[in-house]
Amino acid sequence: MPVRNLQHYALTVPDLEIGSKFFTDFGLETSLRDGNVIAQCFGRDQDQVILTQGERKRLHHVSFGTTADDLPELQKNIETAGIKLVDAPKATPGDGLWFEDFDGMLTNICIAEDAPWQEGLAPTFNTPTSRPRLGQRTELITDPPVQPRRLGHMVLFTKDALRKQQFYIDTLGLALADRVADFLHFLYSPAGSDHHIVAIAQSGDYGIQHVGFEVGSTDEVGMGGRQMTDKGYIHCWGPGRHGPGSNVFFYMRDPWNSIVEYFADMDYIEAGTDWTPVDWATKEETVIWGDNEPKDFPTNFEILDGPGMH
Ligand SMILES: [Fe+2]
Repeated sequence: MPVRNLQHYALTVPDLEIGSKFFTDFGLETSLRDGNVIAQCFGRDQDQVILTQGERKRLHHVSFGTTADDLPELQKNIETAGIKLVDAPKATPGDGLWFEDFDGMLTNICIAEDAPWQEGLAPTFNTPTSRPRLGQRTELITDPPVQPRRLGHMVLFTKDALRKQQFYIDTLGLALADRVADFLHFLYSPAGSDHHIVAIAQSGDYGIQHVGFEVGSTDEVGMGGRQMTDKGYIHCWGPGRHGPGSNVFFYMRDPWNSIVEYFADMDYIEAGTDWTPVDWATKEETVIWGDNEPKDFPTNFEILDGPGMH
């Protein structure tokens, strides 16, 4: 029954050129299709970001993948939940089910597997007990541009975090990996996925809190952050390592103040795992190393009349 993977997300933006340059600098391959900017990871045949012209930056839709066998049951669940299916949007057509959830967030579920991604550089690391790299410098010294391998997850703002996470669990078949009190819920696919393919964060309206792109190593997380700060983009948070998900992170602001993350080394929950969620609100620290969360990290800049709330 469950949704299996995150396919892509789409934004309306007021300036396609600025958006295209940002994602090119971030390390993605951008192109034009039917008037929209498409961003893919190099060597991967899957749309990751779609930018379509609009008055202001706004989350347009989110697309998830599942199997042909599971799609009918998901459709039944969605209709049983009282949600009407709608036509695919003209600006960003695509197969599968389309609906607006209670937030008004347009969502697509289509038949799609995760497309294979390129392996890239695999540096060797010396440790106190193992020296696989003898008589040579680190492979990282060649300092290639960082190119993310795949879109891994999104953290979605919503006006009702408890309701939205329950919808994703009951109707779309996801499962709770971890949470932080009532305002942040990390969800994985029981068919096997990263610690979270989507997370739900409390705010005043729907929108993007951040999107996470996996890179080849923890070094590439730092190198990617450096790549973007060198180009003058705004640093948000990192580097550091999270408690929930265990991943190393570096967050940058996109040109419209949403957050885009380089991440590496996230927990993976395979099918059949007996995973016990933790409420991280009971922990003293949710960051294993690095600075604590900056104040504006949970601000929803997609709300026009003021910042969102935690
Ligand atoms: Fe993330």
